Amino acid sequence: MCGIVGAFTIDGSVVPDLVRGLRTLEYRGYDSAGIGVVVDGELLVTRRAGRLAELESALANDPLPRSAVGIGHTRWATHGEPTDANAHPHTDATGRIALVHNGVIENAQELRKSLEAAGVVLHSETDTEVLAHLIGRRIVSGVDALEAVRQSLAEVTGYYALALLVRGVDGEPTRLLCARHGPPLCIGRAADSSWIGSDVLALLPHTNDFQYLEDGDVAELTARDVRIFDRRGKDVERPIRVVEWTPESAEKGGYEHYMLKEIHEQPDVLARTIAGRLRPATGDVELGGDGWSDDRLRSIQRVQIVACGTALHAGLIARYMIEGLARVAVDIDFASEFRYRDPVIAPHTMALAISQSGETADTLGAMRLAAQLGARATSICNVIGSTVVRESEATILTEAGPEIGVASTKAFTAQVVAAYLLAVRLGRANGSIDAARGRVLLEELKRLRPRLDTLLAPEVEDHVRELADRHRNVKGFFFLGRGINYPVALEGALKLKEISYLHAEGYPAGEMKHGPIALVEPDLTTVVVNAVGSVAEKSRSNIEQVKARGGRVISVGSDAASHELAEEGIVVPDSSEWLSPVLNVIPLQLLAYHIADLRGCDIDKPRNLAKSVTVE
Ligand code: F6R
Repeated sequence: MCGIVGAFTIDGSVVPDLVRGLRTLEYRGYDSAGIGVVVDGELLVTRRAGRLAELESALANDPLPRSAVGIGHTRWATHGEPTDANAHPHTDATGRIALVHNGVIENAQELRKSLEAAGVVLHSETDTEVLAHLIGRRIVSGVDALEAVRQSLAEVTGYYALALLVRGVDGEPTRLLCARHGPPLCIGRAADSSWIGSDVLALLPHTNDFQYLEDGDVAELTARDVRIFDRRGKDVERPIRVVEWTPESAEKGGYEHYMLKEIHEQPDVLARTIAGRLRPATGDVELGGDGWSDDRLRSIQRVQIVACGTALHAGLIARYMIEGLARVAVDIDFASEFRYRDPVIAPHTMALAISQSGETADTLGAMRLAAQLGARATSICNVIGSTVVRESEATILTEAGPEIGVASTKAFTAQVVAAYLLAVRLGRANGSIDAARGRVLLEELKRLRPRLDTLLAPEVEDHVRELADRHRNVKGFFFLGRGINYPVALEGALKLKEISYLHAEGYPAGEMKHGPIALVEPDLTTVVVNAVGSVAEKSRSNIEQVKARGGRVISVGSDAASHELAEEGIVVPDSSEWLSPVLNVIPLQLLAYHIADLRGCDIDKPRNLAKSVTVE
């Protein structure tokens, strides 16, 4: 949600670097974009409503001069429509500062009124401009910039990541500051330059060394130095973490969309997620660190999963795995609901946050609440150094690499595999799984890769595209699944609706007859996910029920009898039922992708969405 970049170089020309950084961050919001620089003591801002391309063409027509320091922003609107006036950076009345912001200032209305009462004219509807005036007025009245930021932030409620450019007067140097309370912000350190980014991806072309700001931190950057102050104003050191990702890993690699690239990366991702973690001799899994030791896990009597969206679907699958394999009771909740329903946490509970970004506000809030209520905070997460990881006692890193496509694909399958590893580890630790069974479970994991390769072969994709073409104009879709494939049905529906804007609903197949079946008609396509296993026969009856009412059925999975019943289908290689979701979701990802592509949708930037939801 909103991307921030900032740069301070010795003698550079930061505008192209800022634009490049914004391009990488565009997945966080694409309503408008802007850049601010200081040149010869003058603050210059260019900003435009619309995609980053609008800003780029404005800069091409009227380039900003060379500048060694600057800030940039790509917006996902919260206060005020996406217009030029509401685009960031925002400036104060005297043009002394420029500010970019990610987050929400909750008392903005109140502060706006008191500014207006003091004669300040505001030019936008944003909460960010209010903050720019609060800070700017203090600086103009002689308060040091760092202190002005601190005092102004003390007046606001809400949450923010921000970067601020302060023009020097009377020969003072330009200053670059940033602050964080809530949404993520990291600082990149290179030999002759310092960088600010909402995430590390935007800064990978310049460095692999990052410092993550903690909540309440305010920092000041120069090209060669960074000073960080905590919420009490104390000068603090935040550890430098090395992130081994390359800039190329954040590019499309010849695919038309990030989403398609990421779908095709899944065999490699899953290999990375399990690499070095399997212990065939003992039928066990090594997750690294004390947090996953026998001692810590043996006492766990309940697991409370919290997550949002696709990660929640991975959590629902994790529930089947952890209960079925490790025999530990699992509760799962939408993170946004858990936070506000005064939950009860039983003794010996492990809270498990599942998150690709590790920065989702609701997931983080729910994890913190569970920890306050006495649970051990653990996580499955893709981003080393993210807030969820830093605040967890133990994490399984999914190793999916950067996920840029707004619709999550490879992170989901990596989360499911990580959950399987956790279920095996927990079961081995508490004795529910013996060594022999553990070995079989690990063996099944190793067989996944060739099966994934088969599913991603060009002929399968051609077949999926043909199906997509036949169904792209239907009125809507149902996705049905049972047991461990019920969450796969939810995920198939979510993927389709978020990128193709077709109406799609996921249901447990058995629920269909309790209401939704009323919607069945020839113009509604039902996708039934059915793997060989404990509930295959039951799902077959659901196919019959839909057909009997004139509905069209696409069957997806390894159950051959379902394919015989359905008019159309996508055959998935056989696997253990536990791991069937990893395979079954791939055709659903491809189906969503090709339907959206054939409908001409903007796949990597679906309307109204943004990746990494750092607001509530
Ligand atoms: C859907 C999607 C979202 C995310 C959700 C949680 O394709 O990507 O539903 O899964 O916003 O995000 P993370 O996993 O970053 O916490």
